[in-house]
Order: sequence, then C-alpha cells, then structure tokens
Amino acid sequence: MSLLSVRDLQVTYASRAGPVRAVDGMDLDVPAASITGLVGESGCGKSTLGRALMGVLPESGRITGGQVMFEGQDLVRLSASAQRAMRWRRMSFIPQTAMNALDPVQRLRTQMFEVLQERGGVSRRDAQQRSAALFTMVGLDPQRLADYPHQFSGGMRQRASIALALALSPSLVIADEPVTALDVIVQRQVLDVLRDLQARLNLAMILVTHDMAVVAYACDRVAVMYAGRIVESGPVAAVLERPLHPYTMGLTHAFPDVHGGEDVLVPIEGAPPSLLNPPPGCRFAPRCPFAEPACHASSPPLRSGASDHQVACWRAGDADVLRQLAAKPATWAGA
Ligand SMILES: Nc1ncnc2c1ncn2[C@@H]1O[C@H](COP(=O)(O)OP(=O)(O)O)[C@@H](O)[C@H]1O
Ligand code: SF4
Ligand SMILES: [Mg+2]
Repeated sequence: MSLLSVRDLQVTYASRAGPVRAVDGMDLDVPAASITGLVGESGCGKSTLGRALMGVLPESGRITGGQVMFEGQDLVRLSASAQRAMRWRRMSFIPQTAMNALDPVQRLRTQMFEVLQERGGVSRRDAQQRSAALFTMVGLDPQRLADYPHQFSGGMRQRASIALALALSPSLVIADEPVTALDVIVQRQVLDVLRDLQARLNLAMILVTHDMAVVAYACDRVAVMYAGRIVESGPVAAVLERPLHPYTMGLTHAFPDVHGGEDVLVPIEGAPPSLLNPPPGCRFAPRCPFAEPACHASSPPLRSGASDHQVACWRAGDADVLRQLAAKPATWAGA
C-alpha cells in the first residue's frame, strides 16, 4: 500500500494575468521505504507539488481540489494546527536551494537544536547527542556544528539540510532538486548519502529533479511530470528501458549517462506550456513528434498498463514503434 496517495490534486496561484494551475489533476502514489523520482523540465509544477504536500506554499498559492492521503489522513482536509504537528515529524522537506533550508546568521548547532527542541520536544542534552549523531550520519564532522552555513561548501550545506530534515525521524522526505547546484562528483556523493539513509532508516523519499541521470542513479520508482500532471510512472527500470510516453522518451535522450553509454544528447525542442492557459487536449502535443489530430482534441487519462507502469498517451499502444523512432535524433528536430 502507498504511504502517500495523491488524487486529482489541483494547486492554483493567483496572478495578475489570472489563475495559474501549476498542479492540475495530479495522481501520484509513493510507496513506503523507497525513493520516487519526480522528474520533468523546469516549470512543470514539481516544486509546487512538494510545497503543497508540505503545506508551505507561498501566499498566492492554494490547494484548490483533490485529495492527499498520508498515513491514513487527508492532508487537504487537516486543520492548520494538525498540519503543523505533522510537519518535520512525519514528513519533511528540503527546499530547492539548500541556503533556503539554512539560516545564514545562525550556527548549524542552533538550527539543529531549534528543530529538535522546539518542534520535537527533545531535551537539551538529547539534542546535543542527536545533533552529533545526525551530522555523523550524513558524513559531516560533528565539530562543524559550531560553524555558520557560509563556512560550508555546497555539498556540505546540502548534507546539513538533509540532517535537519531527518532530525525528527520522518517517514517521508521530499527533497527538491537536492543536487542540482552541485558538480557531478559531489552530486554522486550526496545521492549516495540519500540512498544510504533511505535504506538504513527505511525512509520514503520523493526526489525532485529535472535530470533523468539522477533518476537512473538514485531512484526506485519514477513519476514523470509535464505541465502540472503525471504523464508516466512506474519502476525505474521499466520506465527507463521501455518508456511508454513520448515525453519520457525525449527526456531519456536529453540527458547523458541514463544508460551509462555515449548517447548523443538530443534536446526536446520548445518549452513546457504556460500553465495560465495550457493547450487543450494532450499538453505535450505542441512538442510531440507523434501527435495526431485526436491528441489535440482531448486529454489522455493516466492508465495502468502491464507491470505497475502507468501512462497518459493516446498512442501508448504504439509505444514500441514510437520508441524506435524516438531514438533517432531527426525525429526531434522541428516536431
Ligand atoms: N508564486 C507563484 N505565482 C504564480 N505562478 C507561479 C508561482 N510559483 C510558480 N509559479 C508557476 O507555476 C508553474 C510551476 O512552477 P514550479 O512548481 O516552480 O515548477 P518546477 O519546480 O517544475 O520548475 C510555473 O509555470 C510557474 O511559473
Ligand atoms: S497523446 Fe498524442 S501528443 Fe500526447 S504524447 Fe501521446 S502521441 Fe504525443
Ligand atoms: Mg522547482
């Protein structure tokens, strides 16, 4: 059974130009004790989803529909105080830049104590021990608890924000682009820390990324997000080896190292649509090399195929043929 189950979720931002539906009819299941990658290009609604789940949307953002079942409760219907009680303890969030998770004018020790004592009700003595244990767990020297964030490298700051997120032993951690700002070697080190902690602590994690190589390296499952919706999801091996959605096929060719080979990188032309006024029908249709007239007319639902693999594409039945075509760079030139 899923630890987290999102159904038909809608998140809307009020903007001068009108409502922006950044998450628009999203379905997602996150099983316990595994890492689910949430992947998609910039502007697809990944951070909005993470913030909505965690209850930390900006002022202009609201959940406007749907259901989020987590540990038997619908978070959408939970009171503000019940949500606060759950945050950090049951579910925690690592925001898109580690500097947002850390207070630049406070020593790491102070920040760690604040979470442990104020939110977790841990005694000062226990907070001291627990802070040192958490730092050790993420590969930082506990002596460094005396430092300020600016004294840390990017990778160390990311480790510190992971330690903070784990302080109260949540069952679900949402990490928003935790390695995006880091160079490749440090990326791997931080992903190794996340993998190791997931296994040791039996955690569930949502790892938000725009990079398929990160999914291939670190995740058990993957959900591919496009223009506010999930377009494909399933076990990583199945989705990366036999993608059923043209967007996923495009993404696997747009990033190096997904298959560990020397593939030519082929970007998908264009950009995700504005969520102020998204196109009718399949939202990927304007960029899809395989779009047919029917694709522009109505939106394909997310449907289960074989082996726990879901896809939202009218042409999913032709996926084997489309995959062969998608492997040719010319297919993506001027779709
Ligand atoms: N505070 C905001 N007000 C209005 N629109 C926003 C706001 N934050 C994000 N958006 C819009 O919501 C969409 C999704 O953004 P975001 O969740 O940040 O995507 P991602 O994390 O996938 O890059 C984008 O179209 C973005 O312009
Ligand atoms: S529904 Fe049509 S346009 Fe959308 S991804 Fe499938 S083939 Fe492409
Ligand atoms: Mg984002």
